[in-house]
Amino acid sequence: MGPLLATAAPDETQGLAAWGKIAGVLQHPRCLNCHQQTSPLQGDVPRPHVPFAVRGADGTGTGAMRCGVCHKDFGNDPMSGTPGAPHWRLAPVSMVWQGLSSAELCALLKDPKRNGGRGGDALVEHMKVEPLVLWGWAPGTGRKPVPLAHGDFMTLMHQWVTGGMACPK
Ligand code: HEC
Ligand code: HEC
Repeated sequence: MGPLLATAAPDETQGLAAWGKIAGVLQHPRCLNCHQQTSPLQGDVPRPHVPFAVRGADGTGTGAMRCGVCHKDFGNDPMSGTPGAPHWRLAPVSMVWQGLSSAELCALLKDPKRNGGRGGDALVEHMKVEPLVLWGWAPGTGRKPVPLAHGDFMTLMHQWVTGGMACPK
């Protein structure tokens, strides 16, 4: 095993640099609008969801304002402008990202007690296949997609995980 392999191996510095760009995606309104405490937000300049909707017991809303009444499993509705993807709901309370600094967000994301019991590989997989994540790259007319190609984002995720999931101080 020569020096070639050693220099090719992603390290903590590279992982930390990757994290800076990953945080920019996670803090984008397409992700943040759902990773909220009480109610979803909407729009590129996040504003309260109209009509007003609340989390409810399991993140899927309450009564006539259950998310699935309007948000459909099969995707965005081009007629009404309502975004959609399978199991549309608010992120669990432990995964609320609203108001977190990059360092706090990083600490939360890699904490299995708060991230749904996920290790690095499971986080990578979630970013790769979860429909609610992928929706951020195809959010429908009138909404900006997250600011990085999905493939580039996945490369950064791999660099961050193989670099030991380093977080800014
Ligand atoms: C429609 C609402 C919604 C949107 C939009 C959304 N998420 Fe989530 N997110 C959820 C829900 C619900 C969960 C919990 C799912 C689970 O644990 O299986 C979750 C969980 C996660 C997790 C698991 C770990 C953790 O600590 O949060 C990650 C990572 C994640 N989302 C990333 C993203 C990214 C990146 C985007 C934007 C590209 C995004 N999400 C957009 C609802 C959403
Ligand atoms: C009565 C219908 C209705 C219900 C119920 C509803 N929504 Fe919405 N939602 C909409 C419409 C319509 C839009 C698009 C508004 C726009 O873009 O002007 C929207 C937009 C959103 C957005 C904005 C996406 C973005 O990034 O701009 C999120 C997030 C969201 N809803 C989450 C939820 C969640 C979570 C629930 C359940 C707790 C829910 N909604 C319940 C109709 C509804």
